Amino acid sequence: MFKTGVLLSAICFVGVLGQLNDVFEWKELNFVWPSEEAKSNALKNGDYIPDNNLPLGLARWKDKLFVTVPRWKAGVAASLNYIPLNTTEKSPTLIPYPDWKANQIPKKGETPADNQIISVFRVNIDACDRLWVMETGLADILGNPQQIIPSSIAIFDLNTDKLLRRYNFSESDIKGEDSFFANVIVDVTKDTCDNAFAYVPDLGGYGIVVYSFAEDKSWRVKHNYFHFDPLKGDMTVGGVNFQWTDGVFGIALGPINENGFRTAYFHALASCNEFSVSTQVLRNESLATDSHSFELYKLEGHKGDKGQASSSSFDEKTNVLFMTQLQRDGIACWNPRTRLEANNFVLVAQDHEKLIFTNDISIDAERNIWILSDRMPVFIYRQLDPNEINYRILKMSVDEAIKGTACEA
Ligand SMILES: *[C@@H]1O[C@H](CO)[C@@H](O)[C@H](O)[C@H]1NC(C)=O
Ligand SMILES: *[C@@H]1O[C@H](CO)[C@@H](O)[C@H](O)[C@H]1NC(C)=O
Ligand SMILES: *[C@@H]1O[C@H](CO)[C@@H](O)[C@H](O)[C@H]1NC(C)=O
Repeated sequence: MFKTGVLLSAICFVGVLGQLNDVFEWKELNFVWPSEEAKSNALKNGDYIPDNNLPLGLARWKDKLFVTVPRWKAGVAASLNYIPLNTTEKSPTLIPYPDWKANQIPKKGETPADNQIISVFRVNIDACDRLWVMETGLADILGNPQQIIPSSIAIFDLNTDKLLRRYNFSESDIKGEDSFFANVIVDVTKDTCDNAFAYVPDLGGYGIVVYSFAEDKSWRVKHNYFHFDPLKGDMTVGGVNFQWTDGVFGIALGPINENGFRTAYFHALASCNEFSVSTQVLRNESLATDSHSFELYKLEGHKGDKGQASSSSFDEKTNVLFMTQLQRDGIACWNPRTRLEANNFVLVAQDHEKLIFTNDISIDAERNIWILSDRMPVFIYRQLDPNEINYRILKMSVDEAIKGTACEA
C-alpha cells in the first residue's frame, strides 16, 4: 500500500479532485421485461442470471443513456440497453434497445433478426444522430463461447430506432480466434454523414479494422504500436491481481486539422504509452496497409508506471484527451499541445471506492464526461457481492475537470 501511494504522487500530477457527481449506482442490474411471467420464466430456465449481468460501456444521446451488458457469461437479459435520463431512480431498470426481441438469442433453427443484438462491449454516437454498435456476435465468452452471428458493425438511426445498416466483418478483417473487437470509434462531422469512417481496434489480434461507410468496405491495419507491452500486463485493481495481454483498445480523435484529417490517439490496454497516427493514413487503404507507413505513427509519450487505460474520449473545444486510469481508480487528462510526461498527465478524478475499474468514459454533446465503473476483475476472477454497490455511473463537466490544471494549456 505504501509503495502505491509513493508511486502515485511521483508519476502523475493530481489535479483538484471532487467535482464528480454520482448519477446511478447498482448492486445488481434490473431490466424492463415484457411481462412478469417472461422474467420469472427466464429466471427459472437460466436465460436470466442476475449476477452475470455486468454493465461495461456507455454513451449519451439526448434523453437516453446507452448502457451495454456484454455476454461474458450465460444469463444476460439484454446486451444493448438505455436508461431514460428523466428518471428519478438512483438504480433505474435498463430498457433493451432497439427493443426486447432484438436482444434475445435466437433459438435453434430461428433466423437472427436484421436488428439482432447478441453481445456488445462499447457503442459510439456520431454527429449524425446514429448509434454505432460493435456487435461481437459471441455469447457466453467465459463459459461455452458460441458465435451466433458474425462480428459486425450495426448502425442505428437514433431518431427512428431503426437499423440503418449492418456490415459483417470479412475473413480478412479477422485474425482467427485471437481477434476481439470491443470498441468502435466514428470519424465524421455533421456535414459529411455519408462519408463516415469507423475505426475498430482488435485488442486480441493487435490490429485496427477501418470501415468506410461510403464504400461499405473495410481493411485491416497492422502496426507494432498496436501490441501490448509485456512489462505492463501485470495489474492489480480492486484487490485482484491479473495479467492481461490486451493490445490496442482506446482510440480517440482530435479536431480536424488544416489538411481535413484528425489525429487518432491510441493505446494498448496493457501499456503505459500513448501513440498517434493521422486519420489520413488509416483512411487511405493502400497507405494504411503498406509496411512503409511504419514511420507515420508517433509515440506521444509515457503515462507513468500505472498508467494503463481502457477507454479514452476527446474534447475538441479544449483540445483535451481524457482516459480511464485502471490501476489508479481514476480518470486522467492530457492536452496534446503539451508534451505527454508526468507533469502534463493529470489525474482529475480518483476514488478508491467509487472508481474501481473505470471501464468506460464518454463525452457527450454538452461536454459532460460520463464514467462507468464496474469492478470487472472481481466479476471475472472472483465474485461480486450482491450486497455491495458494484456498478456506478458518474459524471463531471470537462471544464470543471481541467480547471487550474496543465490540461488547460
Ligand atoms: C420521461 O419521459 C418519457 C418520454 O417523454 C415519459 O413517458 C415519462 O413519463 C417520463 N418519466 C418521468 C419520470 O418523468
Ligand atoms: C450478415 O451475416 C448474416 C449471417 O450470416 C446474414 O444473415 C446477413 O444477411 C449478413 N448481412 C449483410 C448485410 O451482409
Ligand atoms: C493514398 O496514399 C498514397 C501514398 O501516399 C497516395 O499516392 C494516394 O494519392 C492516396 N490516396 C488518396 C485517395 O488520398
